[in-house]
Amino acid sequence: MTIEPNVLIVPARECLDRAYAPYSGLRVAAALLDDRGRLFTGVNIENISYGLSMCAERVAIFSALAAGARRITALAVTSSGADLLSPCGACRQVMAEFADADVPVYCDTGGAVRRFSVAELLPAGFAAAQLGRQR
Ligand code: THU
Repeated sequence: MTIEPNVLIVPARECLDRAYAPYSGLRVAAALLDDRGRLFTGVNIENISYGLSMCAERVAIFSALAAGARRITALAVTSSGADLLSPCGACRQVMAEFADADVPVYCDTGGAVRRFSVAELLPAGFAAAQLGRQR
């Protein structure tokens, strides 16, 4: 699917200030489109027990799923940092569960936007076929 990245980058940037990141100081926001064309956003939500913190991408994905989405057709992620926000490994695995291999993931640097596919972010990932299953 080809979309104009700003369809997702702009709403992601708009919710950066809703991130709860008092410990790292890095605000992250994600936006996605589901298979019905609905937009969902998420922000990182940290916890004093650091390991309980949740990334923006998974907040957005789980929010979409809780609203009835089952497939994701495009994602974007941005942050308050100056560098490219590259999704963490856990988020990549969750993306691969709900998005096809060719789904675009737009990563915002604050200036330029880089486009990756889900497969580029998680090459040779663990997949349902390895359990002898269809998804
Ligand atoms: N973070 C995300 O929200 N997404 C990522 O893909 C990488 C990291 C958040 C988690 C934590 O709140 C902060 O960035 C610093 O690790």
